Order: sequence, then structure tokens, then C-alpha cells
Amino acid sequence: MNTSTSPTVLVIGAGIMGAGIAQVAAQAGHAVMLFDTREGAAAAAKDKLGQSLQALIAKGRLSEQAAHAALARIQPVGRLEEAADAGLAVEAIVENLEAKRTLLRQLEALLAPEAILASNTSSISITALANGLKAPGRVVGMHFFNPVPLMKLVEVVSGLQTEAAVAERVFQLATAWGKTAVHARSTPGFIVNRIARPYYAETLALLQERASSPAVLDACLRGAGFRMGPCELMDLIGHDTNFSVTESVYQANFGDKRYQPSLVQRDMVDGGLLGRKSGRGFFAYGEGVSTPELPAPRLGALPTRVRWHDSGDGGPALAAFGQRWREALTTAGVAVETVAGSTWIGVEAEGGRLALTDGRTASQRAAEEAHAELALFDWPVVAAPGSTMAFAAAAGASPAWQGQAAAMLAAAGLQPQQVEDTPGLVVARTLAMLINEAADAVQQGVCTPEGADLAMKLGVNYPAGPFEWLARWDVRAVTALIDRLDGFYRGERYRVSPWLRRRGWAR
Ligand code: NAI
Repeated sequence: MNTSTSPTVLVIGAGIMGAGIAQVAAQAGHAVMLFDTREGAAAAAKDKLGQSLQALIAKGRLSEQAAHAALARIQPVGRLEEAADAGLAVEAIVENLEAKRTLLRQLEALLAPEAILASNTSSISITALANGLKAPGRVVGMHFFNPVPLMKLVEVVSGLQTEAAVAERVFQLATAWGKTAVHARSTPGFIVNRIARPYYAETLALLQERASSPAVLDACLRGAGFRMGPCELMDLIGHDTNFSVTESVYQANFGDKRYQPSLVQRDMVDGGLLGRKSGRGFFAYGEGVSTPELPAPRLGALPTRVRWHDSGDGGPALAAFGQRWREALTTAGVAVETVAGSTWIGVEAEGGRLALTDGRTASQRAAEEAHAELALFDWPVVAAPGSTMAFAAAAGASPAWQGQAAAMLAAAGLQPQQVEDTPGLVVARTLAMLINEAADAVQQGVCTPEGADLAMKLGVNYPAGPFEWLARWDVRAVTALIDRLDGFYRGERYRVSPWLRRRGWAR
């Protein structure tokens, strides 16, 4: 056996993930043994892999020689015993604790004591998997993402007893396979499946309270830089799969309300509206189906003069947007005056205020500030020209002021979309909760801030990591926003992470 440089890799389970893992290990030069209890499955997976490699050759992405060499390194085996000299075993069998434990016991008896036993599980505790083994320290999570050859991220997951050297070795191997590895401590959802929960949960909560439509919410989040809005993404993943991941994280956290699944999604699952794969989810799919149009905003006339207020607490993203906005208004012929030392952020015109959301509803703020003509705009993290931005108006705001607020956002090059007067609007509350979840993961030692940023960018293609968003915002603005959501909804979902709370005080 050769464990030091290029160990023989045993992949158990020749399904969608196992086949992908076998491919990347073989392409990285390892001899790979592929085993599956289903008769003929390993050989069939190798045949299919041959076809995928042919496609890569046809596209000019792989040389014929490299493809043949990689394929020749993969050997389907009919019995586990044939792979006794493997230095690394990666299991990608059915997601079932008992099945995986039984397999690990077999592997422990079969492989050399220094061989590493890795699991590609996405939801089972690595600590629990290792329980019952003579040497639990050799068990580690090696969590790939689908499709394995394309997705860069590997979460290297350590359970309570995983030896640091074992995790480090798997980290190095994943890196040598062309992946970006990130260390994680075994906790429900590891890094990506945990931190991503609010991306879906906030939109599902907004839909449940009928704040807006799936098409508008998606457009707002695409405006924040996401490639796909939460609704189209849940449709792509499949509501059954997405719901079951949420449910598993919720249950693994003893029913913590922060992770509570949504009735909106439960209904879709019960009704068979699973998304793309069933032809209908939030959106309809199939031939002749067009993408839903967004409602045309009702734009009023631009005011002739405005006053720009900036308390200085908006952070760099707001400062950059504010600058662009003032320039755009000036170009549009509006006289812009800047108010130094203001207590709020936004534009004041003809007695009305269009302010940055701070987590209060417009109506609450209008009442507290005794200012009826009030509208709020969402956090402009990117606010690229042409992108959608949510705004909301206080109950007492006149239609004229609402139209004027929309016109001022349009002057900044944005597509304004009015949503119901909901706290934290769309982007601000979603990103605040993503930051909060990432902060809690770091607080609990699950990963580092850099690890969280990398994992979210590579595991789910986020345009930026949660801590990168935080750097473009303001820690006190984030904690205040979440506290106000908590005050509005009164539950356990909007609970500020101690990590953020401490930094808010220290600022
Ligand atoms: P799959 O159903 O495509 O493949 C599983 C394969 O394992 C099947 O071919 C099955 O015959 C085989 N198998 C079942 N029990 C076995 C045993 N005791 N010994 C040997 N072979 C056995 O499943 P998929 O999607 O490839 O998932 C495999 C693992 O990877 C699961 O733990 C899953 O949670 C995890 N995972 C899946 C991801 C995905 O997007 N599908 C992403 C990341 C992790």
C-alpha cells in the first residue's frame, strides 16, 4: 500500500457522487477501485464515465491520452476484499447511518490501520459514523458537491475524534485533486448546507406573509448579485430535496425555530410541485412557457431638489451607491444638497423621505418619526444599473410620494419594485441572516470566516461570502436590523449571533 504520495483510492457507491469522485481521483493520477453492492453498477458507472470523458475530448478540454489514462486507472471490483490495499476509502453509498456504519466496520477490518476512511455524507454526523470503530480517529468527512468534476469545493469535516493529521491529509489530497478544501467541524449541515438556509427561509417567510411574488423576490436577489433567485434555485434543486435538507438541519438542532421548515414549501412538496423536474414549482417549465414578467413600476415625476442624508453608518456599499445616486440625480437635473451629520440615510424631497431600511417597517418608522410621507429602499449591496431594487411605503404615504420614490430609484438606474411594508425588505434581511448564520458557525468553531466565504462562493456559487458582505455593510447596522426583525416577529428565528453582538459593541 502507498499512503504517502498517491494512495490507491477505494470509492464505495457508484452512484452520481461516487462516479464523480472516482473520476477526479483518477484524473489526479490515483489508481481507483470502484465498488457497489448493486450488481454491475460499478462497471456501468465506468462505462458512463468513459462517455463523459469522450465528451470532454470532443470539446477540447481533455487530451485523448489523459482521458484514456484516467479511465484505465479505474477498476470496478466485485468484492470489497479486492481493494484491501487502498490507502483512502471514500464512501458515497446511501444516506443512512446504519448502512454507513456497517460499511465502515467492514473497511476497518479490511484496510491497513493507517488507511483513511472518508465519508461523502451531507447530513450525517461524522462523530456518529465513527462511533463503534476501534480507531475512530481515522474517520473524516470528505464532502463533495454535485456535479463533482465541476464543483470546486470539498468540505473536510472533522468529528469529535477525527485526528488532525487525518483531516490535514484529506485536505491536501483534495487540493491535489484540483479542489478547494475547507475545514469544517461536524455539526448539522456542516458549512454550506447550514449557512445557506436563510437564503431560502427568508424568501419563503416573505411569500408566506404575501410580501411579494416569487418573480419579484428573485429579481431583487439577483440584483444583489446572486446568479439565481431563491425561488428559481429551489425549483432547480427540487422542493422535495430542499425541504428535506431544511428538515434535517431543523431536527438535528432539536427543533430550533431558526431552521424551521416552511409551510409554503411543505405545500409544494405535498402537491407534487417539485420544480423543474415535475414541470412546475414556483414557476412553470416546459415548451412554450415564458419567464414571468415583472410588474411595471408606477413612476412619478422627479422632484426639482433633494437633500441627501447620511448618518455615516451605512458602510462602503451604501457610500458607493449614494455617490452614484447623487450624481445620477444631478445629471437628471435635480439639485442635490448634502446634509452633514444627519441621523438617517436616504433622500429627502418635498417633505417626503426615502430612507435605507433599518429593519423597521416604513409604517413603524413613520409613526415613530411622525413623518407620514415615508418610503424605504433595500440595502444596495451591488445595485448595478438595470437591477431590481425593492422599496416599500408607509401606510399613510400618498400615492404621489410613492411614485416619486420610485422615480428617484429609477434615476439611479434601478428597476424599482414595490413590495408590502415588511421589515428589512428583501435583500437586507436575507443578507443579514446569511451573515448571522455564518457568524454563528464561526462562533461555534465550525469554520473560519475565510472558510465560510470560500465555501459559500464555491459550494453554492454565491457572488460574495457572508463576511465579505459584512465588510461592505456595518456590523451595528446588521445587529440592529436583526434585533428589529426579532422585535417585529417575536420568535427565535431572528437571534443575533454572539459573534456579531460582540463586534457590534466593539466597533
Ligand atoms: P446514489 O443513489 O446516486 O448512489 C448511491 C450508490 O450507492 C448506489 O449505486 C447504490 O447501489 C450504492 N450503495 C448503496 N448501499 C451500498 C452499500 N452498502 N455498499 C456499496 N454500495 C452501496 O446517491 P448519491 O446521490 O451519489 O449520494 C451518495 C452519497 O453522497 C450520500 O451519502 C449523499 O448524501 C451524498 N451526497 C450527495 C449529493 C448529491 O447532490 N446527490 C451531494 C453531496 C453528498
